[in-house]
Amino acid sequence: NKGNYEHYMQKEIHEQPESLTTTMRGRLIHRGSNKSKSVLLGGLKDHLKTIRRSRRILFIGCGTSYNAALAARPILEELSGVPVTMEIASDLLDREGPIYREDTAVFVSQSGETADTLLALQYALDNGALCVGITNTVGSAIARNTHCGVHINAGAEIGVASTKAYTSQIVVMVMLALAIGGDTISNQARREAIIDGLFDLPNKVREVLKLDQEMKDLAKQLIAEQSLLVFGRGYNYATALEGALKVKEVALMHSEGMLAGEMKHGPLALVDENLPIAVVATRDACFSKQQSVIQQLNARRGRLIVMCSKGDAASVCPNESCRVIEVPQVEDCLQPVINVVPLQLLAYHLTVLRGHNVDQPRNLAKSVTTQ
Ligand code: UD1
Ligand code: M6R
Repeated sequence: NKGNYEHYMQKEIHEQPESLTTTMRGRLIHRGSNKSKSVLLGGLKDHLKTIRRSRRILFIGCGTSYNAALAARPILEELSGVPVTMEIASDLLDREGPIYREDTAVFVSQSGETADTLLALQYALDNGALCVGITNTVGSAIARNTHCGVHINAGAEIGVASTKAYTSQIVVMVMLALAIGGDTISNQARREAIIDGLFDLPNKVREVLKLDQEMKDLAKQLIAEQSLLVFGRGYNYATALEGALKVKEVALMHSEGMLAGEMKHGPLALVDENLPIAVVATRDACFSKQQSVIQQLNARRGRLIVMCSKGDAASVCPNESCRVIEVPQVEDCLQPVINVVPLQLLAYHLTVLRGHNVDQPRNLAKSVTTQ
């Protein structure tokens, strides 16, 4: 049921304040005599000790689910202290990469039925790793075959382009990082800030959704383009990959997400006055590095669309040479949830304006059950 919306993708983008609320329901709690804030993931509570002691955590997934894990990687590394590596399921299988008994392998999948991810799960089980599922589908193959896991509870996702599942997956993996990371005095303020940020996140998503018309206007300007580059780094490398994936899969426009730190190592050659380039430059520890990336792109007369935190337009783009999208600022590890929303809206409007099928893009299926 699409309700008042024309397409499922549109509905699913706009219902993210609600889907995020259900994802977090019952999982953020006040604990102990001092009522300190904490996270409770029912499906993991008997396995946390094993996960903490593991030698490595591997995130395994495909497409959007891989990107969500990439967004959560830095906070998991920070709070757990355990090395975290990333695997695209098909690539792990192609390489027959090493997996050990001391590893925790986390399988991320909206459908829970993706063939590549399921085969990688079988491979990890055969190699004796602890296998954890993060899925949206109760009773799915991945939910059934993992040792334990977390349902993201985002509600059924119909549009082939994954939107609300992405933001709910990130939130679950941030909660996973909080659950694995110990409650030490030294990280208490950080943990509390993240938990407060989680409570307020649906409101902040509601705020960023107000950019809908602005993204439609931007889509009108980009309607006839051949290509769109998206640069991000740190927490928002994933935002660049996911924004570009949305644009290519539904709007059928070439788009690449790129690590901004790699710009000088090749992509810079593409920059001219015509190619549109989006740069994610919201406030976090990487902000000044992104400012200098913008300066270098400006110096080559790049056609820039810059996403920055509210109030930062003048500091990211002093000479008004670029188009600026201002988004609400949240805790750094939650910022990818906010930043992807304008890009989801842009991909949606581009698709409608270009006259393509939004909910069932050419050649794609919601659940990829063949290898
Ligand atoms: C569970 C109930 C929820 C109830 C809540 C009350 C289910 C599906 N969930 O939620 O309805 O409101 O208790 O406390 O009945 N699992 C995997 N692999 C996965 C995903 C999950 O093995 O990929 C396992 C978990 O380890 C757990 C079970 O499935 O044993 C349910 O997971 P989840 O729904 O996330 O648990 P709760 O949030 O506790
Ligand atoms: O169901 P899964 O999360 O395992 O699906 C993985 C990918 O097939 C999926 O995310 C795909 O990339 C989407 N069409 C992206 O929007």
